[in-house]
Amino acid sequence: MKSPFAERSSKEMKDVLMDPKADGPKVHYYMIRGGKDKKNITVWESGTIGGEYIKSYGHYHVGDLSETYEVLAGEGYVILQKRGNSDDEIIEFRAVKVKTGDKVFIPTGYGHLAINTGKTWLVTSDDSPVDFGEKKAVSMPGHADYAPFKKLHGAAYYCVEENGQPKFVKNPNYKSVPPIEFK
Ligand SMILES: [Fe+2]
Repeated sequence: MKSPFAERSSKEMKDVLMDPKADGPKVHYYMIRGGKDKKNITVWESGTIGGEYIKSYGHYHVGDLSETYEVLAGEGYVILQKRGNSDDEIIEFRAVKVKTGDKVFIPTGYGHLAINTGKTWLVTSDDSPVDFGEKKAVSMPGHADYAPFKKLHGAAYYCVEENGQPKFVKNPNYKSVPPIEFK
């Protein structure tokens, strides 16, 4: 049986960081995949890299697939972005502040990732499906499209630490980006 465990390395994360040259932990987050019923667990490292809080890579779902995240421990943001006519044109951007016990629904079509702005591990559970027959089922499951985030080096906004507080700054690689809807 395939191991359900995977790590997202700093090497992979360079694709989507505000400052790809910045030094940080070797592993940014840890994943244990169980799929829709058993659930998937993700554990984020705490801290910043080049001023940016540690986050997940970010992806859109392939096809008609929504997902719900539940925060099991820690605090941070779940961000969602909706595309217009192209990957670099964002028509809606939501930053949802979350803490232990909160649930966030990710509707079909919204790119998403989570950010750990707390001092502890951020731990979530989600119900996205996993097909263990896929080659990279655990690390990069087929339901997720990571390419737009790779191409544009992250989401439409980066979340950086300023005077100990999170602050969102625009990613200059996007052509158009709306103001943030804070939830
Ligand atoms: Fe997802």
